[in-house]
Amino acid sequence: MSALVDAQHARAREVLGSEALAYYESGAGAELTRREAEAAWSHYRLRPRVLTDVAAVDLSLDLLGTHLATPLLVAPTAYHRLAHPDGEVATARGAAAAGALLTLSARASQPLESVAQAAAGPWWFQVYATRDPAVHRGLAVRARDAGATALVLTGDTPFVGRKPLSDSLGIPGIEDMVAVNSGAHLRPDAATDAADQWPSATTDLVAELAALTGLPVLVKGVLRGDEAARCVDAGAAGIVVSTHGGRQLDRVVPSAVALPEVVAAVGDRVPVLVDGGLRSGLDVLTALALGARAVLLGRPVLWALAAGGAAGVRELLDTLTDDLAHVMALAGAPTLDAVTADLVTRIERPV
Ligand code: FNR
Repeated sequence: MSALVDAQHARAREVLGSEALAYYESGAGAELTRREAEAAWSHYRLRPRVLTDVAAVDLSLDLLGTHLATPLLVAPTAYHRLAHPDGEVATARGAAAAGALLTLSARASQPLESVAQAAAGPWWFQVYATRDPAVHRGLAVRARDAGATALVLTGDTPFVGRKPLSDSLGIPGIEDMVAVNSGAHLRPDAATDAADQWPSATTDLVAELAALTGLPVLVKGVLRGDEAARCVDAGAAGIVVSTHGGRQLDRVVPSAVALPEVVAAVGDRVPVLVDGGLRSGLDVLTALALGARAVLLGRPVLWALAAGGAAGVRELLDTLTDDLAHVMALAGAPTLDAVTADLVTRIERPV
């Protein structure tokens, strides 16, 4: 783990209340998937190139029509006001200062228009299928109108997974945070679960959201090659390999294990992104070498936000981007295109 991620995590533990901390840290079930995520990246070893000109390292890329300075993206995570009073606005400012793309959660705790104004750079909006379709449709259109350049449809959440640690504590004030964005799309007589996840959603929603907004739609939470192909056949413009931070189904394969299979299945058709347990430049280099076009960071951004607000988020993204440039150069890869599969090999028994 990067020393900064470690330090921000320690600071977050000091400043966060016990409910917020439990909410951020917790995983589903016995938390095997959450605990395994970080170590899974260290099952790969690097095969560096020698005597390659790496005097200038370029981390820029084009992703779904957007030019980005770094392949590090902010993953969608809920309720940033639990971490910092400035919430997602601070996260957006920090990400923009680092030139990193923000993915705003459907469960953001501030109005998406306020966050959009703070996001001086490109941003995407994450969508959950909701029981009342007026909610997810309304949010998707509002996000498009506020400047989101893609939608990320989370596909692994027919309902919210059980997280024993945080479920037992609850989160004070959560109802208010839930309502901040979705409330605007509820009729006065709406059922109390109208904005909850809709368990009957299918891949039909991909094309529906794309047609409704004209935006590219990525599907997040994919862990199999055949499922990735099914999503792309249904119109997905990108895939995010993810275990949802180990917060949905416990004992699923780690993202680091699923990624090569998904890249082999659809990597020549759409960009494949990945998240889960990425905590250092070496982790990110490994993910990129396994075929990810970009990566997303979940908990490290929440810790950074709690530890230092917008400045903390910027410091995290700048530091990890710098760390990535450093290890890319040492591996003999001066550009992201040069980060190819031959740079890594999987070992069975890490020491
Ligand atoms: C999440 N994640 C998530 N995903 C999503 O699609 N919508 C959401 O609202 C949330 N909310 C959320 C809250 C919290 C507290 C966490 C920790 C995670 C999952 C997130 O986007 C991402 O997949 C993981 O967090 C990535 O793993 P790491 O980086 O946290 O290990």
